[in-house]
Amino acid sequence: MKERCFIPPKSKLESILHKIDRPTYVLEESKLKYNLEILDYVQKSSGAKILLALKGFAFWSSFDLVSKYLRGVTASGIYEARLGFEEFKKYNKDSEIAVFSPAFSKEEIIELLPISNHIIFNSFNQLRRFLPLINGSNVDIGIRINPLYSEVTPEIYNPCISGSRLGVIPSEFKKGIDCLEFVSGIHFHTHCEQNSDALLRTIEYFKRYFGEYIPKMKWINFGGGHHITRDDYNIDLLIDIINNFKKEFNNVEVYLEPGEAVGWQCGSLVGEIRDIIFNKYNIAITNISAAAHMPDCLEMPYIPQIRGAKIVNLDSNVSKTSYRLGSPSCLAGDVIGDYEFDRELNIGDKIILEDMIHYTIVKNNTFNGIPLPSLAILRENGEFDIVKEFGYNEYKNRNG
Ligand SMILES: Cc1ncc(COP(=O)(O)O)c(C=O)c1O
Repeated sequence: MKERCFIPPKSKLESILHKIDRPTYVLEESKLKYNLEILDYVQKSSGAKILLALKGFAFWSSFDLVSKYLRGVTASGIYEARLGFEEFKKYNKDSEIAVFSPAFSKEEIIELLPISNHIIFNSFNQLRRFLPLINGSNVDIGIRINPLYSEVTPEIYNPCISGSRLGVIPSEFKKGIDCLEFVSGIHFHTHCEQNSDALLRTIEYFKRYFGEYIPKMKWINFGGGHHITRDDYNIDLLIDIINNFKKEFNNVEVYLEPGEAVGWQCGSLVGEIRDIIFNKYNIAITNISAAAHMPDCLEMPYIPQIRGAKIVNLDSNVSKTSYRLGSPSCLAGDVIGDYEFDRELNIGDKIILEDMIHYTIVKNNTFNGIPLPSLAILRENGEFDIVKEFGYNEYKNRNG
């Protein structure tokens, strides 16, 4: 990569592990800053504006830092937009709030109008319905399209699967061109953990089906799913793609709205071994639940990395130090994964599940009455702040 050198900071979590006595998500400020500096490099080199997708990362106690780098937030509805307005915009009054929903209600639009910059519709029906409310305000209207191309697997994360409800397909778009005079921007979101070569291919489809409308637009939003802060991500290609796109389309404004790339590898979930039993393998029961604390592990599915252990297949790799790690819930499949540790485990041992800050906290639930993990920040200067602890009331209030 040209003229840039970002060195990932080392985790300092072990130095404060003794201060943690319950399940806790620990955000490491230095690692978040590392991600933000990479994202800012992309902004500065390409002129694109990067918005934080709150659906993936809404840890607002860190927004004093995030708002120093990113241009605003992108929201999935009124609650996320409010959070962005209250907790992001307060640090930077020029930050922008974009909102997309597959279908808004009238009440939501009324609440969104005073706090949003872009309201992005999923259909021309919705746009026509709410145009009288929005027209004349300062809010830009956007429309999400489906370019009929996405490389995302598994299908649950692919917005372009056959019959997808997300985005206007080219033939339907033609039926809405009478509204285009009110539309300031086009949005597509077709990526998930993708490198920039996928964006290059996607843009070809975007231009093929929607190219004639781009010159009428003030901005184009390339959505999220760009894994910009991952080690092997080709940042130079991303910058070239954006610069070439802007050159081709009269310097149109380009937005990116990553969530995962902001929170990527910037913190852990700390748990503990509660019991060790034996049935075919060593089974360690922890105080962490995949179903309640990291549902993507079951949904995606994937097995999280654990510090000091490697992921193994217990059917071919049983040893004294290999364990199946499970949760304290009643769900038989609430298993974290199979691991070979560098030592035998004991009851009370701490475990560090890596990369647990994005798409975890935002998806937490209190299934089985399992407590919600605390939220903590390990500051760059070594200070350790527990910013939130949860209790029985979170469970009770959500159930009746
Ligand atoms: C419309 C939209 N924008 C942005 C994102 C953020 O994607 P990621 O967190 O993968 O970058 C998503 C994720 O689903 C999305 O649906």
